[in-house]
This record gives sequence, C-alpha cells and structure tokens, in this order.
Amino acid sequence: MTITVDEGVFLRDGRPHQIISGAVHYFRIPPALWEDRLRRVRALGLNTVETYVAWNYHERTPGRVDFTGPRDLTRFITLAGDLGLDVIVRPGPYICAEWDFGGLPAWLMRERLTLRTSDPAYLAHVDAWLDAVIAVVAPLQATRGGPVVGVQVENEYGSYGSDPAYLEHVRAGLLARGVDTWLFTSDGPGPDWLINGTLPGVHATANFGSRPVEALDELRSFQPGGPDMVMEFWNGWFDHWREPHHVRDAGDAARVLADLLRLGASVNFYMAHGGTNHGLWNGANHPEEGFQPTVTSYDYDAPVGEAGELTPKFEAFRAAIAAHTGVRPPAPPAPLPRHAPASAAPLAWASLLDHVDLFDAPRTAPAPLSLEDLGADHGLVLYRGSTVIPPDGRELILDGLADRAQVIVDGVDAGTFDRTDGTPRLPMTPRTDGARTELTILVENQGRTNFGPRMGERKGLAAVRLADRFVHGWESRALRIDLPGWLERIAWAPDAAGVGPTLARFSLEVDGPADGFLALPGWGKGFVWLNGTLLGRYWDLGPQVTLYAAAPLWKAGANEIVVLELLAPGAILELRDEPDLGPLQETAHWG
Ligand code: GLA
Repeated sequence: MTITVDEGVFLRDGRPHQIISGAVHYFRIPPALWEDRLRRVRALGLNTVETYVAWNYHERTPGRVDFTGPRDLTRFITLAGDLGLDVIVRPGPYICAEWDFGGLPAWLMRERLTLRTSDPAYLAHVDAWLDAVIAVVAPLQATRGGPVVGVQVENEYGSYGSDPAYLEHVRAGLLARGVDTWLFTSDGPGPDWLINGTLPGVHATANFGSRPVEALDELRSFQPGGPDMVMEFWNGWFDHWREPHHVRDAGDAARVLADLLRLGASVNFYMAHGGTNHGLWNGANHPEEGFQPTVTSYDYDAPVGEAGELTPKFEAFRAAIAAHTGVRPPAPPAPLPRHAPASAAPLAWASLLDHVDLFDAPRTAPAPLSLEDLGADHGLVLYRGSTVIPPDGRELILDGLADRAQVIVDGVDAGTFDRTDGTPRLPMTPRTDGARTELTILVENQGRTNFGPRMGERKGLAAVRLADRFVHGWESRALRIDLPGWLERIAWAPDAAGVGPTLARFSLEVDGPADGFLALPGWGKGFVWLNGTLLGRYWDLGPQVTLYAAAPLWKAGANEIVVLELLAPGAILELRDEPDLGPLQETAHWG
C-alpha cells in the first residue's frame, strides 16, 4: 500500500482517497495510554493519524538520542498501524506545536548559529537529527509494508524565514535517508506564507480553522492542481497563563469539517487529542506585546479531551465523518475509571534552597550564566553573588530576565519579578556594618518561545547591575528539577522553614490506578510530582486549575505527591474527579 499524489488526487493503492486524519502527539500521552487514545480517535472515523516528532524530547543531551520507553516512536506508529490507521509523520527539525523551543534542542543555543537556515553550523545538527529520526521512520513507510504514508518537510517555514536552500536541504536530506513516500510542506493559506514555505515539486498543504472555501481558493491559486489538504484544521486552541481557557463551539467546528469533506479536501484535525505538556515541556509565544508561556494542559478543546473524554465535538465530528463516508466507525473504548474526590494536608516540608547540593555543582564566572551555558534545558537557575551598596543607595537592575526572578537580599525575601512587568529594578539600601550585601536570585524558565522571530533566547539572567555598574562575580547553578533522583534525597521536616521556595509532601491512599485531577487551592505557583513523575506547573493566575494525573501514574495504596511552591504554600491538596481548565472563552484565532 502507498499513497501517491497523482493528477490532483491522492491515490491509496491506486484508488482515489480522501485522507481523514487527526493529530495525536505520543510525546504528550503516557505510553500506557497510547493505545487507548488511538482507539478513541479511530472511533471518530479517522483513517489516518498524524504526529510530530519533537527533536529536543529525543536528544536532551547532544549526541544521545533516545527512542525508548515514552520516546518509542516505532511502537506508537506500529500501534496506529495495527489499529488500521495510516500514519503521517512530521519530524521537524522544527515543529512549533506549543512545545518548548518548537522542538529544537536548547543546547543549540550554546553555539553561534542561525536557526532554521542553511548556516552550516545549524545544518550539521539537523543532519545528525535526520540520521537518527529517519532511521526510525523510513523502515515504517508504507512502501516497505508499514503504516507511514506521508512525511513533512520542516513546519510552516513560510511564517518564519526565507532561505529556500535550507528547506531544500531538509527535503534532500529526507530523500537521501530513504524517505520515498508522499512529501509535503504545510503553511498558512496566503501568498507570502506559501511562497516562502514551499518547494517546487513538493506538495503544498495549508493550515487554518475557518472560511474553508476562501482558504482552499488561496491554496488552489498557488497550487492549481491540488489535491487540497488541510494539514492543520484548527478545531480548538491552546491556552497561555493569565488568559481564559479557549474553546471552540462543536457545531461551528463540525460545520467547517463537513464543508471541507464535501469540497473533497483531505484533512488533519489539529488536534484530534491534545494531551499534556507534562514535565517542563510547554512552549511559549512571544509577540510584540510580550512573553506568553503556555499552560501544562494541551487539551486544545479537541474532540478527545486530555483525559480521553468523548466530548460533544467528538460526537459532532463522528457524525459529520460518518455522514460523508457512509462508514460506521468502531466503538470507542469505555471511559477510564476516576478516583473519588479526596483531599490531603502536607505531611512534611523542606526548603529548596537547603537542597541545592542535590543538583549539578555551580559554575563561577564574572557574569551570570544562562541555563544553556550551564548545559541544561529546563528548570530553575540559582545565582549567588554579593556587592557593596554605596552609602547613598542604588537601584539593583536585572537585565535580560527570562522569565521570573525571586530575589533574596541578605537572607530576606525582596520580592518576585516577572519579565512581563518590564526590567526588574529594586531600590537597595547599604548595610549599616559596611559589609557586602549577599544576593540570591532564583530564576524560573517558564518555557521557550516556540514560534516567530523571538525564538532562541537564553534563559536566566544576562546581567545584574547597580545602576550603570555591573555586579560581577556570580555562582550560577542549574536546578534541573525535572530530572529524576533528587526528590528521593530530600531531608523532610515536620514544619516549613527557610526563605524561598518550599517543598511539601503529601500522601493519598487510593484503591488502584484511575484518572484524577489535582488542584492546589490557595497555593501560588509551582510544580507537582505524582509518584516521582512531574505532572507540570500550576499558577493561581490561571486559567488552568487542575493538573491531569493519569491512571497509569497511580498505584493501589499510598501515593506520594510532592509540591514545589515558589510563592506561598496553601493548606491542602485536592484530588478531584473532574478537570477544571478555567473560565471559558470562545476563541477567535481561526485564521
Ligand atoms: C501552527 C503550527 C502548529 C501549532 C499551531 C497552533 O499551525 O504549525 O505546530 O503551533 O500553529 O496550535
């Protein structure tokens, strides 16, 4: 079986074919639930499933590429094929996707290179990635008996750059490594995007959410022959912290879907099932107006919800597809069991700053080092330095803050500063004893920008000044809180003490694995682990209130939950039986 593009139509095994596909990212789903989620999207009536491959998830350390366990792409693709789904793969190098740095590894930023161009320094890393990922994907192609029918060249390149030699390099690199299936690019449906994002001889597809006739006309005027494919039909949307939870009306989305199918277009829902930006993998946007980190949930208001819910959009899409194809899809799996609501108070406490020796040793340099300089992708950066404040006082200025700093002056909390409020400036008074003032600055990386011209910044601090004079001499330490090992070595105490972030430990007894949703009412901002797995971030600014705690992470009996609170701890943790992703807003991002 193969899919080919011929005279304006897709042919599957030689017969005209309409692709009805949905995006499902294996890297956003616990591996024990891959099959469950694929069965649910299969029950929508899909004939194809699409996934990106997130380069930075597979190569956290340069040269050490991991395709095992939760990163076992072969297993995900094979499972999909076994369920009767064709598979489309979008292997990057860049994927956008609201994923940290759009899938690019943070360690690229240790070099001087121009991202997403034919800069040889960048291409050398791209080539090594293509070697690794295509070695996995090529043997799974339909041309060799597997389910992979299509492979994308880069991602929406027309929104970013204008270096056709780079796009051509990626295309040639795919071919040279054995990709011999349908190749395509995807871009917004407008001349500027399509001109810069496409390649001669490579099928162009379009991404949009509404006005299908106009959008397909745009694509047709660029590529008159077709076949028309919407590589991302935006049926929902994602959320940033401080904004409402975006939803899209099921009836409205289903009407656009029905139009697309009737117009004969092939389609890939973005997303069919969104999943979770677990750990610290969420990305961020950074338009002119300012930095916008993305929340932990990637529910996306998709037909299949973050916890596998079969939503009204699922029913509406399923009906629209069945009406169009006349095919009755298989039944979806039964809902997963959910825990009964419960709550717990902390059993033990610890201070993060008392435990920094559990992380990599600090490095000393005149200026503060970035997370990237320190060889880390995620987490917090701890800076320690000292200075003499002149007798008439001075302003302490933090330059290049990315993204949020907690400042401790001589052991006393001097406040938290967010980059969205501008450059932090703290009035400083001299010590009466003439001694040096000790500065401790803890900076949180809230996720790397995944889209647009501001991609590629460094996380941490660029410099610290007293008015115009630099404060030199810093100890910089990466606190890679998402790596395993350190949580088990905390010395817990019965009471909270110390300055700065607080760790709290809870225990919850349950009968066995089931889905649950954790909430921290009255807490400020931080991170939650369930039995050692970092679920993600919480923040009282919302919109997201509960964190999805998937059934495979629980066990019968006592379950350990650890919270790292950056601001001020609350009293209890709640286990709920329903998600709460915050106040709803019908979104207007339909492109
Ligand atoms: C674009 C990108 C996707 C995703 C969507 C928004 O279309 O290609 O990766 O970021 O925007 O969710």
